[in-house]
Amino acid sequence: MPKITFIERDGTRREVDAPLGASVLQVARRHDIDIEGACEGSLACSTCHIIIDAEWYDLLKEASEDEEDMLDLAFNLTKTSRLGCQIIITEELDGLTVRLPAATRNLLLG
Ligand code: FES
Repeated sequence: MPKITFIERDGTRREVDAPLGASVLQVARRHDIDIEGACEGSLACSTCHIIIDAEWYDLLKEASEDEEDMLDLAFNLTKTSRLGCQIIITEELDGLTVRLPAATRNLLLG
């Protein structure tokens, strides 16, 4: 099974199993990694914002326009920011490293 590494806000690295077909958000939840995902993956928030390790960023499927629009609303946006609910684990992503941003904005709570 592929593994991905989360770098938590305090810098802790956690390598976890990432089942094929799961989203990064789902993997994070399964392992109690603190990504909110307020809209449950329906592209209506930006609380699943993650920062992709630069080496990996280009290997990901490009973000859809809707994802880009939501990302524009995220705090601490970086050049390699993505939404965790939109990244689906494939064999190619074995070893993926993502960092949690310092803060997210919960649009659902206004
Ligand atoms: S969980 Fe809301 S956009 Fe990803």
